[in-house]
Amino acid sequence: MLPRKVLSIVLLAGALSACSPQSPSSPLGSIPATAAGAGTPAVGIASATAQLGARIYNGNCVPCHQQNGAGIPGVYPGMAGSPVIVGDPAALALWVIKGQRPASMPAGRYSTQMLQFGWLKPADAAALFSFLRSNFGNSAPPVDADTVAKVLGP
Ligand code: HEC
Repeated sequence: MLPRKVLSIVLLAGALSACSPQSPSSPLGSIPATAAGAGTPAVGIASATAQLGARIYNGNCVPCHQQNGAGIPGVYPGMAGSPVIVGDPAALALWVIKGQRPASMPAGRYSTQMLQFGWLKPADAAALFSFLRSNFGNSAPPVDADTVAKVLGP
């Protein structure tokens, strides 16, 4: 009886590991599974822009604002319902890219500081902002690259 059990465990393990090489070709591409698992709307049907936005968020914002966008209470703000995110895209762009404090965000709430993301190109920033505005329970219209480019100027 025992050898049979061992055999079936080996077969099961083989079947499980056989799944992993297939994931890169899934429609989710390189989006980490956690992005889809964080209570966000289906990224599977999302466009390349949405995937780009998720990638930029995961690569740059997660250390402070966390994978699920909840932040760390008293230390880093959450992304859900942030007036900066769902409000005027110009204020959002100036904050994230230039560190210019939006009117809707009073100073002194946090003793920690945010980094500036001056290297974000308008298309990347637009994808990131659109991601923020349509995830974490937010639902504001997407932002396009032209809008960001106009805000930042030449
Ligand atoms: C080093 C930690 C850190 C990183 C990394 C970081 N942030 Fe922040 N973020 C903060 C802090 C701290 C604040 C609050 C600043 C304040 O109130 O002065 C903040 C505030 C914000 C707000 C306004 C939230 C509100 O309460 O309305 C947005 C939007 C935001 N961050 C977006 C981003 C995005 C997008 C990225 C990634 C590109 C990012 N942050 C990366 C620390 C960080």
